Amino acid sequence: MNLAAQYLYALSATLFILSLKWMSEVKTSRRGNWAAIAGMMIAVAATFMAYHVLHIGLLAAAAVVGAVIGIPIAMKLPMTAVPQRTAMSHAFGSLAVALIGVAEYHQRAPNIDAFTMSILASEMILGFLTFTGSCVAFAKLQELIPGRPFVYKGRNVVNLATLAAAAALAVALVLHPGRELLVPAMAACALLFGFLLVMAIGGADMPTVIAILNSYAGLSAAGLGFVLNSKILVVAGTLDGSSGLILALVMSKAMNRSFLNVLFGGVGAAPAAASNGQPKQTRSVKAYLPEDAAAILEEARTVVIVPGYGMAVAQAQHAVKELADAIRARGEDRKVVYAIHPVAGRMPGHMNVLLAEAQVPYDRLLEMNEANPIFPEADMAIVVGANDVVNPAARTKADSPLYGMPILDVDKARSAVFIKRSMNPGFAGVDNELFYLPQTMMVFGDAKKVLTAITAALKQA
Ligand code: TAP
Repeated sequence: MNLAAQYLYALSATLFILSLKWMSEVKTSRRGNWAAIAGMMIAVAATFMAYHVLHIGLLAAAAVVGAVIGIPIAMKLPMTAVPQRTAMSHAFGSLAVALIGVAEYHQRAPNIDAFTMSILASEMILGFLTFTGSCVAFAKLQELIPGRPFVYKGRNVVNLATLAAAAALAVALVLHPGRELLVPAMAACALLFGFLLVMAIGGADMPTVIAILNSYAGLSAAGLGFVLNSKILVVAGTLDGSSGLILALVMSKAMNRSFLNVLFGGVGAAPAAASNGQPKQTRSVKAYLPEDAAAILEEARTVVIVPGYGMAVAQAQHAVKELADAIRARGEDRKVVYAIHPVAGRMPGHMNVLLAEAQVPYDRLLEMNEANPIFPEADMAIVVGANDVVNPAARTKADSPLYGMPILDVDKARSAVFIKRSMNPGFAGVDNELFYLPQTMMVFGDAKKVLTAITAALKQA
């Protein structure tokens, strides 16, 4: 292969690695994004240099179509829809990898050695199952289909039997690479397995599932790299696969769930099915006005702000920062920090990104283990559109889908203000005991409007 292309591949691999490192911190994440973009452009340019391209017109047309569809989606997409957009990009990426695998097979069959055939078959299975799995994840997150898991007795046996059938067909292909009909049969089993696997997982677990599918798509691309003898595809696929896996493990740990429980536990079926997302309210709470919250804030020395998914929906991050500034302006002794739960919102780092956009200093964003010791000393916790991540059912109710998830100790603060629009539950679909505690004030309304009203009242006081 062209030596210059080899050097360029090494450069792009280095940029991919650096991009992951930089993207792991808010401060350097923009640089990480640019490094990844540069790495990908260099890899594409090197590929054009390394190979003789037969149909450049077709490639250019595909790139134009992709850009015409992709750029407006990226520009207009709200932050809250990033998980489903990610699911769609995994779907198309994995379909592309699987189809290239099929094309490679047809170009080479029947003269395919056992090693190459086993890698080709594995990457086709991973690619096809990731495609249907990602499509279902997209449909659940976009609420095109119900988010609750589709569960029935023996589903795990059916799912694993489908996967075993795909694996058996792959083994048959390795033994008899000339039997072309085995490929569509294997692809059908893999497509069915991906569909069934994700249908049986609840909507609240979709971000974790997407990270798992991300790792499958990466592994499948790495496998194709071996077949095509493309070092850069092996490197990029392995980085993609391992980072997806690490992310899924981090999320599972933050929810105190095992990987297997996420994939096969069918979590979220009973409560969601029973309540259809709206638990019956048998108790009532008192609704307070923004001015009532401001009156308590006048004297509050230590305030912890707990952002959640609702802050993202309302785009209230700037309003949150303005309230924090107004509290701090009342005296040197006023302390305002932000408690960030690792799975607050709908994707990792969701809250950090939004608050960074509002210029909240990084050192005021506390992780759960740093924030929880502060709650018992806090005069007030302001919960902005968060629900599951503060729900004490995670500590006490063994039958709750949240049970075992570490939570932010808002119940230990002297007073708490909940800003949300209604008594509706969070993503997990369960009622929150905190709403009914004597020290809790519910201030109903859109987070941005309520926060702006509290800030105005506080400034007038
Ligand atoms: P949730 O428990 O989903 O609660 C969000 C709350 O925001 C809802 O109760 C909703 O109540 C309120 N809300 C929505 N729009 C609002 C608006 N415009 N103004 C004010 N409030 C609004 O959110 P959370 O506490 O951030 O928890 C995240 C959930 O996602 C957890 O169950 C977590 O396990 C799951 N999850 C997250 C991730 C990642 S990586 N973040 C991964 C896997 C799973 P109203 O409708 O009454 O307003």
